[in-house]
Amino acid sequence: MGFERWFNRTLNRIWGFVEDRTGMPKWALRPQPAFSFKPSYWTGAFVVNAFLWQVISGMLLLLYYQPSVAPSLIACGQTPGTFSVAPAAWCSTYYIINTVPMGSLLLSSHLYGAYAMIFLAFVHMFRGYYLGVYKAPREFSWMVGTLLLLATLGMGFTGYLLPYTQLSYNATNVGIVLALRLPYAGPLLGPFILGDGTTQSLLSRMFVGHVLLIPIAMGALLYAHIALFESHGIAPPATSDPTQRRRFSDKEDKEHVPFMPHIFFYITKWALLYIGLLLGIAALWPWQLPTYVGNLTAVGLVTEPDWYFLWLFKFVDFYGVTPVLAVGMTNVVLLYILLLPFLDRTKRTHPRDRPLFIFIANSLVGFFLLMTVWGGLTPGQQILYPSIVERIAPIFLVNAVVVFLFYWRYERHYRARLAAAGQSNRLPGAYPTAPTPVPAAPRASEVASRE
Ligand code: HEM
Repeated sequence: MGFERWFNRTLNRIWGFVEDRTGMPKWALRPQPAFSFKPSYWTGAFVVNAFLWQVISGMLLLLYYQPSVAPSLIACGQTPGTFSVAPAAWCSTYYIINTVPMGSLLLSSHLYGAYAMIFLAFVHMFRGYYLGVYKAPREFSWMVGTLLLLATLGMGFTGYLLPYTQLSYNATNVGIVLALRLPYAGPLLGPFILGDGTTQSLLSRMFVGHVLLIPIAMGALLYAHIALFESHGIAPPATSDPTQRRRFSDKEDKEHVPFMPHIFFYITKWALLYIGLLLGIAALWPWQLPTYVGNLTAVGLVTEPDWYFLWLFKFVDFYGVTPVLAVGMTNVVLLYILLLPFLDRTKRTHPRDRPLFIFIANSLVGFFLLMTVWGGLTPGQQILYPSIVERIAPIFLVNAVVVFLFYWRYERHYRARLAAAGQSNRLPGAYPTAPTPVPAAPRASEVASRE
């Protein structure tokens, strides 16, 4: 007990000193309301945790990785003891897995950590979408977030080629062909991506993108994203009440739970759980390195990207879908997400008040899931019109019926119930307002005089 008090006092004193000398509570790590002690309010922080693990594990991998397609002089046969001349990029990856102490754990956790980060970024985005956090004053937070998502996917794309396996090489080429077919942007991008057209040039560009350019862009975007978050404070719970405030006053801000140590340790707890799970999975199911680019003995290789791009690969398999159409439609979806705050103009944030936008979100999620599974099961297999309609149409139809029924039921019952109970000023999701003064209890003498 004595130790706990001493520990807390010391921590408070150190943090108090830092806050005082930096003026930090005014510009960073602001106090947050007590209701935010739920994982759903910190999905973005979980993405930051995942990003930090990627940075640390990536820097350690950099100590051994060689971004070169030249034949390696190091023995890196697929069966230990045999010598095979494979590209240095592949050989150095082989070396990390088989020779560097804990190298396999490091590489596998970096790869699975990338999957987790992309998955968490999607969760963070869709959570914000469903709960309407993109509405005023958080429009810019949303737009910077969309750019962060793009940068995260860019990290996945550029990192995929680095082990220089035949699988990743084929998939990267398909991705590049898609990008180059873009009208106007394609010819502009070409020289940047392809360089002098050699494989070394491509690998070097992917490498520089992965370890330098995109991380710098991500750092800058993340700084802007978090600065905006600090300036607006956390978004309140979703509400049907358009008059509700979406920002805390300075006074309320000061009364909230301090970031340090409460929120910091709350997030740290989740971060440690994340790292433990990630390392556990990486140790139990280490990644197996597929064969290298140019291995003439390899047969039956299928071109397949990582799971987060499978939907796009499957889309190109649809009869009549050209690369230009596939990339064009992807851009339309991206633009829709980017500009969402300006498309959904109602002040109500609760999902039940935004049926059209909820329908679109459900359709996007349904489409993405279906295409990902489909792409995984039948990569590269062409799909004809009847199958397309048979599988895609139910997503939109079922979704439209479900959203409509919920909305209809809500319109009929919910508002009627609130009005009947005279509670229209107590719709859920309100920021805590100053307590209404309770009239003082009458004094005994007053009661007696009334009688
Ligand atoms: C690499 C990807 C991303 C990272 C690291 C990140 C990080 C964060 C962090 C740390 C916060 C503070 C609150 C929280 O922890 O949830 C936040 C809030 C926010 N993010 Fe992200 N984010 C990312 C991607 C996105 C995307 C893709 C969107 C949407 C398109 C987005 C939109 C927002 C919005 C609107 C807020 C304010 C939410 C609130 O006040 O509750 N972010 N983000």
